[in-house]
Amino acid sequence: MPTRITVLISGRGSNLAALLAAQARGALGGGRIVRVIANLPHAGGLDIATGSGVPTCVVDHRDYAQRADFDAALADAIAADAPDLVVLAGFMRVLGPAFIDRFAGRMLNIHPSLLPAFPGLHTHRRALAEGVRVHGCTVHFVTADVDVGPIVAQAAVPVHDADDETRLAARVLAAEHVLLPKAVAWYCAGRLAIVGRRVHLMGDRVPHETALLSPDA
Ligand code: GRF
Repeated sequence: MPTRITVLISGRGSNLAALLAAQARGALGGGRIVRVIANLPHAGGLDIATGSGVPTCVVDHRDYAQRADFDAALADAIAADAPDLVVLAGFMRVLGPAFIDRFAGRMLNIHPSLLPAFPGLHTHRRALAEGVRVHGCTVHFVTADVDVGPIVAQAAVPVHDADDETRLAARVLAAEHVLLPKAVAWYCAGRLAIVGRRVHLMGDRVPHETALLSPDA
């Protein structure tokens, strides 16, 4: 039985495309994306999903006056497919505690910084402003606090003197496209265990598995 995955998006969907590419080459740990859900009807990633034959739906947050009502509608839309894993791949809405509880331990997020540095928005701009020499991205389990849950994996990239926000974002995004499919594959293969605040990667590792990445080293 494949691990059923629902992917949540808000925008262009390049991380979704990376997941679909990994699935197509059998590199998603036996995972299968069963639906893509967007909170905006014009999210570019919806076309990417459709182009790959993956069913989509839209739960538009603007249709709900209360955040909790949006959360409930989104949770019901997800639950209809009975996924084993929910992946937030550029999903730009904060989800409330009732939603998080419903999918606790089976929801992953990709965040464009080396957490706990730069939670929230505009991570590349803030990294440049702070003068950090190393930046990157993080895949973590989602918990009630935003951008705080147990870290599955991180990928680091250098910050160059000539970088602007666009150039740095592109370098981090390329790392995201490697990191997210790898972390999802580990989850789908049953290799992740949350122990306290840490995530352990189970099973034998091959050297390239953790190159540039830091699951529980
Ligand atoms: C990514 O940088 C992700 O980390 C952030 O939003 C961006 C989404 O990009 N949360 P895409 O929609 O996957 O292209």
